[in-house]
Amino acid sequence: MGTYEVTVHTGTRALAGTTSYIYIQLRGTEAESEEKNLNQAYFSLGFSEGSVRSFKVECKASLGELIYVKLSSKPFMGLDNQWFCNKVLVTTPEDGEFLFPCYRWLGCEEKLVLRHAKASLVFQDTNPISQRHRMRQLEERQEIFGWKVYAEGMPHVNHYESALDMPAEVRFSFSKNTDFYYTAGTQLLALKLEGLADSKKTWGSFNELDRLLCENRNKTIDYVEAHWDEDEFFGYQFLNGLNPMMIQRCSKLPENFPVTEEMVKDSLGGSSLEVEMKKGNIFLCDYKMLDGLVGNEVHGRQQYLTAPLVLLYCDPYGMMLPIAIQLGQKAGVQNPIFLPTDSKTDWQLAKIFVRAAEFSVQEVDIHLLRTHLLSEVFTMATWRNLPFPHPLFKLLIPHTRYTFQINILARNRLISEDGSITKYSGIGGAALEEFLRRATASLTYSSLCLPDNISERGLEEVPHYYYRDDGMKMWNVINKYVEGVLQHYYTSDDDVKNDTEVESWISEIFTKGFQERKSTGIPETFQAVKELIKFVTMVIFTASAQHGALNNGQFEFGGWMPNFPTALRKPPPEHKGQTNEDTILETLPDVGTTVNGMAVLKLLSTKSTDHYPLGVFPEELYDEEVPCTLIEEFRKDLRELSDDIEERNKKLELPYTYMDPKNVENSVAI
Ligand code: FE2
Repeated sequence: MGTYEVTVHTGTRALAGTTSYIYIQLRGTEAESEEKNLNQAYFSLGFSEGSVRSFKVECKASLGELIYVKLSSKPFMGLDNQWFCNKVLVTTPEDGEFLFPCYRWLGCEEKLVLRHAKASLVFQDTNPISQRHRMRQLEERQEIFGWKVYAEGMPHVNHYESALDMPAEVRFSFSKNTDFYYTAGTQLLALKLEGLADSKKTWGSFNELDRLLCENRNKTIDYVEAHWDEDEFFGYQFLNGLNPMMIQRCSKLPENFPVTEEMVKDSLGGSSLEVEMKKGNIFLCDYKMLDGLVGNEVHGRQQYLTAPLVLLYCDPYGMMLPIAIQLGQKAGVQNPIFLPTDSKTDWQLAKIFVRAAEFSVQEVDIHLLRTHLLSEVFTMATWRNLPFPHPLFKLLIPHTRYTFQINILARNRLISEDGSITKYSGIGGAALEEFLRRATASLTYSSLCLPDNISERGLEEVPHYYYRDDGMKMWNVINKYVEGVLQHYYTSDDDVKNDTEVESWISEIFTKGFQERKSTGIPETFQAVKELIKFVTMVIFTASAQHGALNNGQFEFGGWMPNFPTALRKPPPEHKGQTNEDTILETLPDVGTTVNGMAVLKLLSTKSTDHYPLGVFPEELYDEEVPCTLIEEFRKDLRELSDDIEERNKKLELPYTYMDPKNVENSVAI
């Protein structure tokens, strides 16, 4: 006779409790217990939110080493209510206590099989029952999470059409409220701008725009409004704005950008382009990927996209300053090179065209593709190829939370035929699809790994590059944590080579995410533990720190529309000296497009109410000492980094907060 004590923890979230009959069965290497109805004797109590209830399960003999716990549910008095179970603890007659993490919903007439918390690689899980369960779990998951081609040439996506149809396993606390909240209309109401949403009027002045922000300001928005037109801030944004990924050192001018010494001599303080290039002080932003794209129609009117080239100079004070702008890729008399010495309005309009190109590149390539869509690929591959006991599943699962849901919402509400980006941005519709295809074709592994990316772009020494400074520290903190966990489970390179589950995982990422392009440099297999550590660091960095840096400042930097216009109504000027303030206002978005654009940016950068900062893992997935200690160290490292960033920010006129760990979420969840 063996007595097993079972303690059941119900979640604390709303409606987590249930009055349903809940059955439990324990399975060990030697035998299985009978099914026990845990609500039979106390059905009036049920399992209430946050409750912890203990039971005894009597068995005729020892079950051997415990493998799994099976939970199932049947309705009580016809009431069909779901139950959110956090975890089950089982104390065996041999006095061992085993944790079975759950953190999932269980519906009536459904069952859940929980493996115990100790992680194992496929070749270590040798018991035939465990092996069978491992395989069955993956077969089920592959059926539940199917791939879909959203558009040819893009990373494949999850096949669900609605976020509310997602299976219980990834439902978390996602609710109809979240679904409702994710609309530009809701944000228009929140911004109190709904009355202007349909206006096709041109802004009368910049002062009118200023009044628009009245109740929606904060210090950063005020700063952006005050400085958006200054060259220093224009240059600053290539380092610490919404797209810090494009600027690169320039040692030779592109042939299609014939900037002469004469043009820039006034900007170089007596030095020459040749000398400053040799010193490493000249930088380039080239938007060639936008070349030839035809702008969308907004409010029935053609919009214009350009593919500018921007030359920048890092001056002796460490300021990054624009010194020449060409708005199209083909050099010629009708494509003048604008200079800071041109008229104020000529130079201002040239910079506005660059900022509009920034909107396209930032939202579609840098934000949507490189964080949202890639995180969805990593999430899909994780659910489909790694069973619960796999250490990489446990490591990655907090970094996949909400990603499916938020991407489905983005596809349905933002880039669909009547989505807000399609309706109110120059890059919407056919242009977006073509641009996404080009951007996907240009992806490289090195550009996703921050240390490689910084050295490839030659930006190791540039001053005031807080994105790089904080990002490199973040990368190192994440890398240390990942290395600790993976080295604990993979004790040799052979362990990696023999892990058929991780082989399927990376193979699917390569095939579905990167379209089997060898030129990306994305690994197709792993031969060594260090290769796996680097890749997993990139996956977590992308979902957390990188997404935070590109996402969280969208309203702060874009709420003042002239700094981040979603669409432009006039083509770029073909000659200098023909622009005045009226031309600029006629080029900028109309009133309705402006407020709808603001609503989208507000929506994209507002945290959900139940967000989890990086390193805060509410789910107890491990009961082994090493990973638990490593999680504690990870949190300590993140706290120290947060303190350092706060201290540095005290000295800055415009603090850089987007990579502060406390402002970064575990996953792409907004
Ligand atoms: Fe986002």
